Amino acid sequence: MTTKLAPHERIFVGLDTADVDKAARIARQLVGAVGGVKIGKELFTAQGPDGVRLAAGGAPLFLDLKFHDIPNTVAGAVRAAVHLRPRILNVHASGGRAMMVAAAEAARETAEDLGIERPKVIGVTVLTSLDAADLAEVGQLGPPEAQVERLARLAQDSGLDGVVCSAREIVLLRKACGPDFLLVVPGIRPSWSAAGDQKRIMTPEDAIAAGADHIVIGRPITAADDPLAAARRIAADLDAAGVEA
Ligand code: C5P
Repeated sequence: MTTKLAPHERIFVGLDTADVDKAARIARQLVGAVGGVKIGKELFTAQGPDGVRLAAGGAPLFLDLKFHDIPNTVAGAVRAAVHLRPRILNVHASGGRAMMVAAAEAARETAEDLGIERPKVIGVTVLTSLDAADLAEVGQLGPPEAQVERLARLAQDSGLDGVVCSAREIVLLRKACGPDFLLVVPGIRPSWSAAGDQKRIMTPEDAIAAGADHIVIGRPITAADDPLAAARRIAADLDAAGVEA
């Protein structure tokens, strides 16, 4: 994306918990220190839309519900989701063109009706939990990167604003989809934090330098003794690396 963002605005914090109070406490602590929060199926399923509102507490929201269904159903889900006023929401690109077109239209129309800024609708290409053997088992033959690129191009062609991608796909997708396609990247670990169960990680500085627009960071911030200090340190690392442009 061409928009210039302050370093901290690059960061979405993954609030991976079903506990609204805990999520809200962290979100409150991080106001102004990060670009927003990512809330997904765990909290949404346990606590519903009101829980999401409470947890985000007005912070810019990436609503990570990864819709995947027939176009009519996804359009309805997107319309409902837009009432939560997310900055970003997502659908599975493998749901196909008609589904993505319906999602993009539903987001635009609902935002217009509500008089709010249209959320960015982004696609999930291939889940990083799937390797080539897993994909072959479900009939997807060929290299996973080819499928990632195919789905990203289809998402773009269907009117989506970008995709979620792994760090190792940033360069490929930036090249394939151009400078204005939003790339949102999880699996990020500052050099000073523990990798945990993430295997193919990249530092925040490297991910932004490679072409990511936003990075999603969970435990390095949420599990830190001092989440605010951790978030500030990441923003300072980005600043020091001069990757804000
Ligand atoms: O704690 P951590 O930084 O690993 O959290 C990363 C967040 O990004 C989690 O919400 C995780 O589900 C999500 N995510 C990921 N890898 C993907 C897609 C999403 O880690 N490929």
